[in-house]
Amino acid sequence: MKVCRRATFNAAHRLFREDWSDEQNKDIFGKCSNPNYHGHNYVLEVWLDGKIDPETGYVIDLKILKNYIKEEITERFDHRNLNLDCAEFKDLNPTAENIALVCWRLLRSRLDSRYKLTIKLWETENNVVECDGKG
Ligand code: NI
Repeated sequence: MKVCRRATFNAAHRLFREDWSDEQNKDIFGKCSNPNYHGHNYVLEVWLDGKIDPETGYVIDLKILKNYIKEEITERFDHRNLNLDCAEFKDLNPTAENIALVCWRLLRSRLDSRYKLTIKLWETENNVVECDGKG
């Protein structure tokens, strides 16, 4: 049985590599590499796969999952500049893929091992990545 809690956060980022020239960054990352950053309204879906607890009827109390997401993700990344404000991306390009992997690891650390965790991160209405912990 799979259950999902959804959350949103807004954050700014810039995609670039310091070891590449401006031209190379622009070639690969396009507008996403603009030096003055840009923002996204990220939508995070956190999916847990587990068994229904016969006592409660829940796979997990979604209030608990909501709090984990708030503590680990929203309070950390919402209204931040991911490149400048967040140690997680000091040396990691904040692509949707890398943000999803960071979010997965943060949430995994809070969840009982009986749950299989998958997250989806929507960067725009049209772009989504799915992460099960493997880069
Ligand atoms: Ni972007």
